[in-house]
Amino acid sequence: MCGIVAAIAGQNIVPVLLEGLRKLEYRGYDSAGLAVLNGAQGTQLRRLRAVGRVAELAAQADEQKLDAAIGIAHTRWATHGVPSERNAHPHISDGLAVVHNGIIENFEPLRARLTGLGYTFTSETDTEVIAHLVRHHLKNHPDLVDAVRATCGELIGAYAIAIVTEGEDSRVVVARHGSPLVLGQSDSGNYAASDTSALLQVTRNMIYLEDGDMAELTRDAMRIMRLDGTPVARPVQVSQLSADAVELGSYRHYMQKEIFEQPAALSNTLEMLAQARSITPNLFGVEADNVFRSVRRVLVLACGTSFHAGLVARYWLEDIAGIECTVEIASEYRYRKPVADPDTLVVTISQSGETADTLAALKYAKSLGMTRTLAICNVPESAIVRESSLRFITRAGPEIGVASTKAYTTQLAALALLTLAMAKTRGTLSVAQEEKYLGALRHLPGAVTRVLELEPQIQAWAERFAMKHHALFLGRGQHYPIALEGALKLKEISYIHAEAYPAGELKHGPLALVDRDMPVIAIAPNDALIEKLKSNIQEVRARGGELYVIADAGTEMAEGEGVHILNMPENYGLLSPVLHVVPLQLLAYHAALVKGTDVDKPRNLAKSVTVE
Ligand code: G6P
Repeated sequence: MCGIVAAIAGQNIVPVLLEGLRKLEYRGYDSAGLAVLNGAQGTQLRRLRAVGRVAELAAQADEQKLDAAIGIAHTRWATHGVPSERNAHPHISDGLAVVHNGIIENFEPLRARLTGLGYTFTSETDTEVIAHLVRHHLKNHPDLVDAVRATCGELIGAYAIAIVTEGEDSRVVVARHGSPLVLGQSDSGNYAASDTSALLQVTRNMIYLEDGDMAELTRDAMRIMRLDGTPVARPVQVSQLSADAVELGSYRHYMQKEIFEQPAALSNTLEMLAQARSITPNLFGVEADNVFRSVRRVLVLACGTSFHAGLVARYWLEDIAGIECTVEIASEYRYRKPVADPDTLVVTISQSGETADTLAALKYAKSLGMTRTLAICNVPESAIVRESSLRFITRAGPEIGVASTKAYTTQLAALALLTLAMAKTRGTLSVAQEEKYLGALRHLPGAVTRVLELEPQIQAWAERFAMKHHALFLGRGQHYPIALEGALKLKEISYIHAEAYPAGELKHGPLALVDRDMPVIAIAPNDALIEKLKSNIQEVRARGGELYVIADAGTEMAEGEGVHILNMPENYGLLSPVLHVVPLQLLAYHAALVKGTDVDKPRNLAKSVTVE
């Protein structure tokens, strides 16, 4: 949550800060601000802040013709204190300005102490203590780097920070612990940001800081050290990310773009299958074969949409690889006292690789002795990938829309590969089955393309849907998690209250809610559970509920009064969840369009949840 950018260069960096913030808006978008130093030797600190989007801030900067060669900037997702100008970053203590991503857990005692020392607080944020604390330490440590180091020693929690101070126009100091921070190096200057996309406008040369690193950026150099002052060298990595990948192009919204990018994202993620005749565990790392042979169970840890991907994988792993699998919400797992089995493969699933709860749950599982870990992630340099011994990088490309779409389907593709690889090493997959599944995976991008062609019909459904206040999603077996994901998409971006149930649970409670105002969406592939699902559907019809059924070849259900059927192009067996989620993504998208909500930046949410 929250995005930060810092820049020091030989020319005006205000446009760089603003463009960087635009790229980071997915991380938070309730207010934005920047601080720059100008005047001789940076004698004047100028701060601009705006409630709302980066565009508001850019308009102010334009109006004031702001021009400076050193500065820091922030886009906020409120944690402490309402979204307001007063709470927007940067926060200032007597000419020293700080931007912060993360949460300072001990801000209350620090605030009490600093208030006692005579510092005046003007916001409700946890961040303001950092500004005053650095200012305070400057009394005993006149060098800014030393004062920041002393400050970090007192902070408990997660942070990525960038600091500038009046009278020092030759450097920016940054530090990270628990929140991401990348440095960008170029001939024109040096930069820092919460992620690579913010810096591609100026450079491809990236340095990923580790937890507990800090750095001093000057116009021509970067000095990286640990928080105890020990100098460290971190490699420069040339980012392969294309700048176009983070542009909207001809699409109206990133979510729309990302839904339609799914065939390409799946092709990229499954590229290795194009030539391969069989599946190899090496896809997950050199040690994978040994690990897959020796573990007795799989534990999946994830949040949000990634958790829903894990729920599908449970059906696959148990059915095809014959291995026990449990799937847990990371924020719950990290505070439980689970019975730890060292013969467990711990699989984390995360688009960003930075989700604080997933990372903490992974570290917790390791601390309990479960050291065989696999990350399925879309960001190769992320903390979760670095914390895991095995890895599979989905190649969805950057996902900007807050509601996850292409990351989800590529996670499912990766989990299908994992299932096949584990099944193979454990001897539960015949050659004929392997060939059949590999064939199905290869055709997945084409199959998704055909589902996307159903958009006009889903659009018509969405018109009816958008006026509703509630919706119920039903699924059975491996499609129950798809019902969960459909309900999540709808509530996230259209603000329609939606719940998902395994259809067999209908009569144990939710049926009481069904009337003509409650649309019921049933995921009804033609699988072993179809007859049971049809009975559940009758239960809904008998109570006057309006049904929207996503069926596929062979489901054999007829349209009628109050029953709308969307026929999927084909039955896709094991991989059917990958296809069935697509109409639900489109339904949520079009319902949101009809309602006029901010599709890519739904209220109160943010994409990368780097705080608890
Ligand atoms: C946020 C996002 C979701 C995402 C979840 C987990 O809530 O809005 O789209 O599924 O975080 O994120 P991760 O990056 O770990 O997959």
